[in-house]
Amino acid sequence: MSSQHFLTFFFFLFLSCNTIPSSTSSQNKDTFDFVRPIDRKLLGLTKKEKLSHFKFYWHDILSGKNPSSVSILPPSLNSTTYFGSVNMIDNPLTLGPELSSKLVGKAQGFYASASQAELGLLMAMNFAFIEGKYNGSSITILGRNPALNKDSLV
Ligand SMILES: *[C@@H]1O[C@H](CO)[C@@H](O)[C@H](O)[C@H]1NC(C)=O
Ligand SMILES: *[C@@H]1O[C@H](CO)[C@@H](O)[C@H](O)[C@H]1NC(C)=O
Repeated sequence: MSSQHFLTFFFFLFLSCNTIPSSTSSQNKDTFDFVRPIDRKLLGLTKKEKLSHFKFYWHDILSGKNPSSVSILPPSLNSTTYFGSVNMIDNPLTLGPELSSKLVGKAQGFYASASQAELGLLMAMNFAFIEGKYNGSSITILGRNPALNKDSLV
């Protein structure tokens, strides 16, 4: 959703705006010309946020004729948690749990084993949608995935 990226971007700008002016009041104004307050109303940020609920299935296809998840770095030697391994993905996102069900987008990015003590993946991917209202839009996911936990969440 490009509009949400837009909002996130400006959210960070607001953090800067809130913190920088107090520390700059006694300093030369010109030094901080790269940041200035912006009008929330002009950006429509006074409106209530819209919430959307997405439900789809993420398929990590590691083998077969057309794998969608490809190992690009092997794990470090003797690691029981695949520490250091990296997979690049172009994984199908489908409406139902079957791979044959309707394709709504792709999960494009990578995951890497980032924990030495247990299986803990760093997930960095874009959900690129090709269906419905958000066709052509994407959501970026960055997070930790303790993949062996029953209720693991990205
Ligand atoms: C991996 O394990 C083998 C066999 O125990 C050992 O010889 C080797 O030194 C280990 N390698 C590393 C990088 O720890
Ligand atoms: C999604 O957008 C693409 C590019 O604009 C278009 O070719 C395609 O038909 C759209 N798909 C659907 C299901 O609307």
